[in-house]
Amino acid sequence: MEITESRGEPLDILILAAGLGTRMRSNTAKVLHKLDGRPLISHVCHTAAALAPRKVYVVVGHQAEEVKNAVLSEMSPEQTVIVRQEKQLGTGDAVNAAREFLENDDALLLVLSGDVPMIKAETLASLIQRHRDHRGKGAACTILTVKLKDPTGYGRIVRDEGGMFERIVEQRDATENEAEINEINSGIYCFNARKLYATLARVQNHNDQGEYYLTDVPALLKADGEDVAIYQHSDAFEVEGVNNRLQLAELERTLNRRTLRRLMLDYGVTFVDPTTTYVSELTEIGRDTVIQPCVTIEGRTGIGDGCEIRSGTRIVNSRIGRGVEIRDNCLIVDSEIADGAQIGPMAHLRGHAEVGPDTRIGNFVEVKKSKIGRGTKASHLTYLGDATIGENTNIGAGTVTCNYDGVRKHETHIGDNVKIGSDTMLVAPINVGDGAATGAGSVVTKDVEAGKLVVGAPARTIKTLIEKAGEES
Ligand code: UD1
Ligand code: CA
Repeated sequence: MEITESRGEPLDILILAAGLGTRMRSNTAKVLHKLDGRPLISHVCHTAAALAPRKVYVVVGHQAEEVKNAVLSEMSPEQTVIVRQEKQLGTGDAVNAAREFLENDDALLLVLSGDVPMIKAETLASLIQRHRDHRGKGAACTILTVKLKDPTGYGRIVRDEGGMFERIVEQRDATENEAEINEINSGIYCFNARKLYATLARVQNHNDQGEYYLTDVPALLKADGEDVAIYQHSDAFEVEGVNNRLQLAELERTLNRRTLRRLMLDYGVTFVDPTTTYVSELTEIGRDTVIQPCVTIEGRTGIGDGCEIRSGTRIVNSRIGRGVEIRDNCLIVDSEIADGAQIGPMAHLRGHAEVGPDTRIGNFVEVKKSKIGRGTKASHLTYLGDATIGENTNIGAGTVTCNYDGVRKHETHIGDNVKIGSDTMLVAPINVGDGAATGAGSVVTKDVEAGKLVVGAPARTIKTLIEKAGEES
């Protein structure tokens, strides 16, 4: 991002993430609630890191350890400073928690909220540019604002007659007239760090919540003759905050709608019913792939061109090649499916299953941590775990790789062109050579050489249950 190359003071970022989020009515800290499968704080950290700042300070309090872990999944430990706010006395107090690191520095400090997850790095870059360029010498503070049809819950931006910034008033402290203002404070600001901390020391908690509000700082700066600028952004979605579960659900829906729209218009994907389809923004899907209703695709999934995904299927963090057909109600997690494979209905692939080209994994087949070669078929009712299977092998219905002896997992290796008869139990560790075959119902406990047929335990008559008509006993 160009930020790092532009002249001027170094950029630091401060993310506020200590609050419990009372309005969520949750035992989980608000910033750990998930949007698009990742904690809110992860989204903000990912965006912060994209700006290549000198340091990112994250103020944590509630569930500090868990929040810290989420933070470190997006940013390097060298780049990150975790700051504790012991008691949550307001956003001003949260900023104050990082005082010792920042108060004597003329760095540019970008303040972000852990509960405003959709903000884009490009928007923040424009905000920073505006802050630096303000009247040729830079502002002391620049506030990111938007106009909302329904500003309920947000701090309002009060401007003077000349249209210049005057102050921010929280909804609960606003007069009726002020509450009518529809320009709101996004909770995202640029500050000169030294000036911010000098002024923060004067902020009082004389408001409806008895908290120290960061939002009081800009008006105090202005009263001191400093420049406070406003950067009004046009995309309200980016600055929507999450304070309750309704807002979280609405954000999720809007994000999903945007993702599907992008996939349809820019990538040529068909969604038969976008309103019942969920796709992560991290997922990529190729041209002419058709997604039927009620499909869920999560995480860093990639799907190639010309696939068909049928209803009820869920795919998580998986790679799917071209021309793959995934029939109804499959679950595919952390797995790879090569070109031309046909999966399902009701198949379960997990734990790094790797399914080769033109394979067929049919009804009620579970594949775990197994590699399956080109053209191989397991069409019905089978468990394949910890196995490698060669090419053009047929796995009969009801086959089980018995991989677990109650203590440890063992591997099964099956070669090319093998015919495993229905209901074969392959007791691992075991090898079945190329071109070998097993009879129906075999219990195979020893390696099978290439080209050999093994059969086991055929049924025999042990007693008579019903006499044939006409026979006397
Ligand atoms: C805040 C702003 C409001 C703005 C809105 C935008 C204040 C006083 N108000 O209100 O003007 O329109 O954001 O979304 O700043 N936090 C801490 N420690 C605390 C309190 C909060 O770390 O003691 C963190 C929270 O975890 C959260 C962020 O600061 O991530 C914002 O706090 P929140 O209580 O959600 O503020 P809002 O009422 O939304
Ligand atoms: Ca908030």
